[in-house]
Amino acid sequence: MKGNMEEQLIQKIHQKKALIGIIGMGYVGLPLVLRFCEEDFRVLGFDVDSKKVATLKRGKSYLKSIPPSWISQFIRSGHFDVTNDFSRLGKPDCILICVPTPLTEKMEPDLQYIEKTTEAILQNLRKGQLIVLESTTYPGTTEEMVLPRLESRGLKVGEDFYLAFSPEREDPGNKRFTTHQIPKVVAGVTPSCQKVVTALYSRIIQKIVPVSSPRVAELTKLLENIYRSVNIALVNELKMLTDRMGIDIWEVIEAASTKPFGFSPFYPGPGMGGHCIPIDPYYLSWKAREYDFTTRFIFLAGEINVHVPYYVVAKIQDALNARGKSIKGAKILILGVAYKKDVDDARESPALSIMNLLQKKGAVILYHDPYIPSLPSFRKYSFRLNSSPLTEQLLRRIDAAVVVTDHSIDYQRIVRFAPLVIDTRNVTKGMKQWKKKIIKA
Ligand SMILES: NC(=O)c1ccc[n+]([C@@H]2O[C@H](COP(=O)([O-])OP(=O)(O)OC[C@H]3O[C@@H](n4cnc5c(N)ncnc54)[C@H](O)[C@@H]3O)[C@@H](O)[C@H]2O)c1
Repeated sequence: MKGNMEEQLIQKIHQKKALIGIIGMGYVGLPLVLRFCEEDFRVLGFDVDSKKVATLKRGKSYLKSIPPSWISQFIRSGHFDVTNDFSRLGKPDCILICVPTPLTEKMEPDLQYIEKTTEAILQNLRKGQLIVLESTTYPGTTEEMVLPRLESRGLKVGEDFYLAFSPEREDPGNKRFTTHQIPKVVAGVTPSCQKVVTALYSRIIQKIVPVSSPRVAELTKLLENIYRSVNIALVNELKMLTDRMGIDIWEVIEAASTKPFGFSPFYPGPGMGGHCIPIDPYYLSWKAREYDFTTRFIFLAGEINVHVPYYVVAKIQDALNARGKSIKGAKILILGVAYKKDVDDARESPALSIMNLLQKKGAVILYHDPYIPSLPSFRKYSFRLNSSPLTEQLLRRIDAAVVVTDHSIDYQRIVRFAPLVIDTRNVTKGMKQWKKKIIKA
């Protein structure tokens, strides 16, 4: 009977007759919806945000990386439906959880979204369903938190339903690697769960990487992000040192990158941004406490990366000072408020802390970002500002422009007209004729 149910679900997946439910229509959930639809699966999306549900139902998009036509074609063809009615969670054969996993004010894991979602699934759980957690989280979440709740009404994992963890590796704005091409790490709670989850993702992703347990899969994702965080901190620290030594860190990294083995380049910047790298490592630090263990690398990297905006502000202050100006009352144009190049997402962006620090010192802040026409309210900050058009007049009127995000815009023009440019991204590389008004920070 047990084997029968497993075979039936795998069969349904193979024949693309399985209905896929995806919870959380954000940066992770929405690309997954489209990937399943492209492979001719029917998908039912779930989100608590009724505005998002209504937008998607109209065939529109709220993410820059996803054109509306991609959504409307699948809404029209009937492949994609979306709802905020969680009583429909009994319908899908496979349910993927893509809800947020932020930190609390005290920098501890905030699992309320996973908890609420698990509760909603439990209310509708039926035999033969596969549940996959995709949200980034600490090792143990799937088996210690999700599993006992789902089994609390008598259904047994691996026999009545299947449970797995498979971390999302989405990189918004990355045109080189699509969801289809990025290998997917999967781990079922039992061998049966492993078979079913592998069958599912093999239909939409080129390469599946099975690992022995959900804890391994959970930690794999955290290792990827901690690796980035630590290496970014390393080059950020070195940039502060090389600044004092009069050496250009960018030139050093470029030279070191010519080594064909044993070196992967990471680049300094204005501080760390996004909703993964500044946040996820602390999920592990928190869990490590249970084992009387302090994750020193994670804290050190966090400390350095959090300090970088202060360093950038000090460089701005020094540069103005050298020109006989004070930061108080200075008109400072922030170039790019998104957390990375060519994306429309400013969550946890270092631009926000730089703007906040400058404002506290009395600077008058303006910003330009072609992807973010106005700044919404954020977890920590609220600026009531709209993106200023990059006119020659504006550039001549400001006291300094600060390149925070290296969006694809015309930096030659900016440097030509602005009186002073603070460059945190090396976009002014090679602009020797304007050397005197460029400060690397
Ligand atoms: N964005 C990335 O680049 C990225 C990459 C890899 C992993 N992740 C991880 O994936 C997860 C989701 O991230 P995201 O960037 O897609 O977040 P997001 O904020 O873009 O989207 C999450 C969506 O979930 C919805 N939601 C919140 N609570 C819900 C609930 N109880 N039921 C249904 N929907 C709910 C929100 O309204 C939102 O639309 C997080 O754990 C994140 O760390 C994100």
